[in-house]
This record gives sequence, structure tokens and C-alpha cells, in this order.
Amino acid sequence: MHNQPKFIPQRGTDFFADGRSARPQVEHTVARGQLREDQYFYTGLVDGKEQDALPFPATIQVLERGQERFNVYCTPCHSRVGNGDGMIVQRGYKPAGNFHDAKRLAQPLSHYFYVMSNGYGAMPDYSAQLPPADRWAVAAYIRALQLSQNGKQGDVAAGGKVENLSDIAEQEGLPASYAGPWELPGTAVSAKPTGATVESVPEENQNPPASKNRPPIHPEATAPATAAPTTGGTSTKPASH
Ligand code: HEC
Repeated sequence: MHNQPKFIPQRGTDFFADGRSARPQVEHTVARGQLREDQYFYTGLVDGKEQDALPFPATIQVLERGQERFNVYCTPCHSRVGNGDGMIVQRGYKPAGNFHDAKRLAQPLSHYFYVMSNGYGAMPDYSAQLPPADRWAVAAYIRALQLSQNGKQGDVAAGGKVENLSDIAEQEGLPASYAGPWELPGTAVSAKPTGATVESVPEENQNPPASKNRPPIHPEATAPATAAPTTGGTSTKPASH
């Protein structure tokens, strides 16, 4: 048992001519799970364009997974209701945009997948935290969130009643305005100290760092990444989970 013919990670071997026990992928081969044949599933684009479709059926399991992942990774900035006033924004991060405004309601579904995969302006990408199937699940959940605030009587089965969100908020002991657009509290600090320019923010404190290898930013996102540290030494850089 002690002397097994096995390779120990990171240790060399004299079995292969180059002395490496960890083998590089054999040229011109495709490993299982690497084919990435389904272009839309992996990129969210067809012929370079975002589409309004989920690449697999939107089951309740998909939506529940999306809700759980959204609550973990997106709510710090976008908030649980998706209005863009998450805690990090309240503490000074660039406002994250309201998923319920006309512009975002009109976005095709894969826009959300694309933004999670590639980042968007001040928002970092979440491709390392969320594998493609999870990114789609989150996108589907965002659609559910959007629908949840635009429910019509005709959407529910006969006899059902669409309840007013503000009434539900009150029943739950939340302010009636909970699901509406929030005002930033007076204690919220500004994302950019008065007088600060992008140039005056050290590169490593910019969001995301202005690295040359940064993934492509969404063509629509033109705003510069300007969120600056607001107190000495405290970086507003989003934690990489
Ligand atoms: C660290 C804060 C932060 C987190 C966490 C975050 N976002 Fe964002 N997001 C932003 C900001 C800020 C913007 C606006 C960027 C800009 O305009 O420069 C944004 C923009 C977006 C947009 C673009 C909306 C539009 O205008 O088209 C989408 C979609 C989006 N976020 C989805 C998500 C999803 C999904 C998650 C979770 C996986 C997430 N975000 C997590 C900060 C964040």
C-alpha cells in the first residue's frame, strides 16, 4: 500500500520525457465538457446579438436556484427587489440601476447573462463565481422579479387576486414604499469625493482596476469606473467572493 504507482500533484516523474507528472491537454483534442458547442448557452449571443430566450426550460428549480444565487451575489448592490439600492450602493458605490425601469424592462433576457459574464461599467463580472447555468438561472429570476412588480389581474387564475405590493410590505412590517424606488439615506456617502477626478484615483482603487487584461466591457456601458475610496485606507473595491 505504501508504494503505489501514482503521481503526486506538483511532483515530477521520469516516466514522461519532459519530467512533468501533470500532463498538458493533448493537442487537437477536446476534453469532456469542453466542447462548448452551444454558442448561445456559453456566450448569450447569436451572431453577436443578445436574445430574449432562456437556452433551457424555466422550471421552478431553475428559478429557485436563480433566486438563491441572486440573493448571494447581486443583492449587495442591486438589492433584494432589484431596484439598485443595495447596501454597497448606500455606502457609496456607483448606483447599480433599477431593473424595473423602462430601459431595463426592455432588455432581452441574455443581456443579463452577458453582463454577468463580462461585467458592465463599474460592475465586475461574475463568471468566476457563477458557472453559465447559474448565470442563466439568475437572469431568469431577474425576469421573475420584474414580472412580480408588473403583475396584472389577467396573469392570475380566475378567482385569484393580485395584491398590492405596498399592502404586502405593510403586512410584513416593512415601509409601504419598500418595493418602490428608494431614496438614498442622508447618511449615504457620495461615490466620488467632491473634486476628485478619475485620474486622481490610484489605479488599484479604481473599480474594476484598470488592468490591461480586463475582459471587454459591454458596448453600452460608457460610464468610466470612478468609484473611489471614501475614507482613508478603506477600499470600495467589491470583494471578490
Ligand atoms: C459590487 C456591486 C454590484 C454587484 C455585486 C452586482 N452589480 Fe450589477 N451593476 C452594478 C453597477 C454599479 C451597475 C451600473 C454600472 C455602470 O453603469 O457603470 C450594474 C449594472 C448591472 C446591469 C446592467 C443594467 C443595464 O443598465 O443594462 C445588470 C444587468 C446587472 N448589473 C446585473 C447584475 C447581476 C445579475 C448581479 C449578480 C450576479 C450583479 N449585477 C451584481 C453593481 C453591481
